[in-house]
Amino acid sequence: MVSARPAVAALPAYRPGRNPADLAREIGVERAVKLASNEVAFPPLPAVVQAIAAAAGETNRYPDNGATLLTAALAERYGVEPGQLATGCGAVMLCQQLAQAFNDPGTSMAFAWRSFEMYPLLAEVAGARAVRVPLVPGQDGGPADTHDLDGLLAAIDDTTRVVFVCNPNNPTGTAVRRAALADFLDAVPADTLVVLDEAYREFVTDPDVPDGIELMRGRANVAVLRTFSKAWGLAGLRVGYLLAEDPAVAEAVRKTHVPFSVSSLAQAAAVAALASEPEVRERCVAVVTERARLTAALRERGVPVAESQANFVWLPLGERTAEVAAELEARAVITRPFAGEGLRVTVGAPAEDDVFLAALDDVLDPAPGAPARA
Ligand SMILES: Cc1ncc(COP(=O)(O)O)c(C=O)c1O
Repeated sequence: MVSARPAVAALPAYRPGRNPADLAREIGVERAVKLASNEVAFPPLPAVVQAIAAAAGETNRYPDNGATLLTAALAERYGVEPGQLATGCGAVMLCQQLAQAFNDPGTSMAFAWRSFEMYPLLAEVAGARAVRVPLVPGQDGGPADTHDLDGLLAAIDDTTRVVFVCNPNNPTGTAVRRAALADFLDAVPADTLVVLDEAYREFVTDPDVPDGIELMRGRANVAVLRTFSKAWGLAGLRVGYLLAEDPAVAEAVRKTHVPFSVSSLAQAAAVAALASEPEVRERCVAVVTERARLTAALRERGVPVAESQANFVWLPLGERTAEVAAELEARAVITRPFAGEGLRVTVGAPAEDDVFLAALDDVLDPAPGAPARA
């Protein structure tokens, strides 16, 4: 009998989120609302659809393995050399490539926890140790929802090859500020790579939340991860990128690239999306406006939602999380529960969020002082 490597056998089975069409059919409603994957609610921009249509005529050919046009467009956009960039089949694939490129068996990868759920899985598949540093309360007496940078620094030892700082953090939406992050980066040993995972950077509104690319400059052991899946609206096409101060870091990541894994459609769409940045920025403003409305509506209901700098909000529901998520699903709203901790809810279109809020009113007992349940 064949058997998978122990590290792989021990991984939890992948549980995909509910598909809204399946859920709607199951519970007998016309449509369900999906607020589970931090996608934007807008369809792709017309220029992006046109670029995909044009590229569709060439799909008998392999894509450009070096993503030359996309790399050049990114290099110009961010003021870096093409050699400082690596593109990948989604930022998640770049996380995997980082583990492959930097983590020998017996080394470790450190990150806050809870954070992006793929970090520990990718570390373990690479045969590395996943070192989880618990989040701490961002507010006195509040839930643990914020990076503990001192704790993360203390967790780094001789075996630590990669540290992820997810800023803003998925799933809590909280962000670390400039001075604290700069001090942290200055204190990390030079042979440990710090990856600032900025999948949600475009939704940041607090000017004190740093742009990782600024902090990367002059720090050879820092890299920044971004994606076209969220603000740029290309989740279905799978394209992300890494920028590194030291071209050797980007080169190591490029060496672990699965050949041709960024499709020609994805490359064309990403180039067109970059060229449409003003429209993308307008959409981000709409998301941020809706984030403020959703946050206020939840706080009015007595839910202590942390200030989010991303396109989702975090409801620290503790032991009630799984039950509330199941009750919401029964009312045709799909969210992302982390059992025992909290519920992550993507900022949707206003009408979708209204469906969510009405369902939540139906599910939650009103907190003292909160309006009575509808
Ligand atoms: C923090 C973070 N990093 C990386 C990713 C991966 O994004 P993608 O693979 O879609 O580019 C996600 C996706 O949810 C994320 O939340």
